[in-house]
Amino acid sequence: MAFVIDGKKISAQIKDELKDKVSTLKADGKEICLAVIQVGNDPASTVYVGNKKKACEYIGIKSLAYELPEETTEQELIAIIDKLNADDSVHGILVQLPVPKQINEDHIIQAISPKKDVDGFHPASVGALSIGQKGFVSCTPAGVIQLLKRSNIEIEGKECVVIGRSNIVGKPMSMLLLRENGTITVCHSKTKNLKEVCKRADILIVAIGRPRMIDASYVKPGATVIDVGIHRDENNKLCGDVDYASVEPIAGAITPVPGGVGPMTIAMLMNNCVEAGAVE
Ligand code: GUN
Repeated sequence: MAFVIDGKKISAQIKDELKDKVSTLKADGKEICLAVIQVGNDPASTVYVGNKKKACEYIGIKSLAYELPEETTEQELIAIIDKLNADDSVHGILVQLPVPKQINEDHIIQAISPKKDVDGFHPASVGALSIGQKGFVSCTPAGVIQLLKRSNIEIEGKECVVIGRSNIVGKPMSMLLLRENGTITVCHSKTKNLKEVCKRADILIVAIGRPRMIDASYVKPGATVIDVGIHRDENNKLCGDVDYASVEPIAGAITPVPGGVGPMTIAMLMNNCVEAGAVE
């Protein structure tokens, strides 16, 4: 029986801590403001953006919503970002991804000022993380670190295996674990003997994007297993990259899906917004 890491509870604690900070800042005359830009009406993006706006409202962050038509050009979007970059009353800028195909995602990420890059996607933010300098950190991996720390799971000196090397999760996840003095292995689609490598892990972070792929045969008994995946199975039920029913009996600690890593992403986005606004 594993200890179940409750992402809902931990994210709620973080949001309440942020709410207090925001009200102190407000009392000092500072209102934190996040600009959220959505181009087109991808239904999943609409849900994510709605959740981000709701979290802002709960914490007391002002959110500016930009809902742009599907046919918006890259130049038009960059012009809006430029205006927001120059606006001192705006502390964070978030462009919901994916953007329509006429817009180059990299150009958009690079157009956002690193000072307002609350997603932590700008090359300057990624570079700062890799050399241990201050900068915004991608929200999902930052949330995983909070889950571990707030569950008193030590990272220092531990064998950490990250499955997945995406720019948003796998790569920053490995840099963050390294910053916490873990010993890191990053696995990907070309990794040989994936099972054997995973079985070495004291902390196994799974971000592969394949429903229920990681079963107990990949997990060392007593290991901490963090599931970053989220899918709908054939019965329309939410599930992760980890086969929870198989892994939970042998893991030391595990995150459920839903209610594990998912709620942490928005909590850490809110944390980045508060940090962006609290400087000066
Ligand atoms: N699309 C899916 N996840 C994210 C995210 O964390 N940030 C942004 N900007 N877009 C996303």
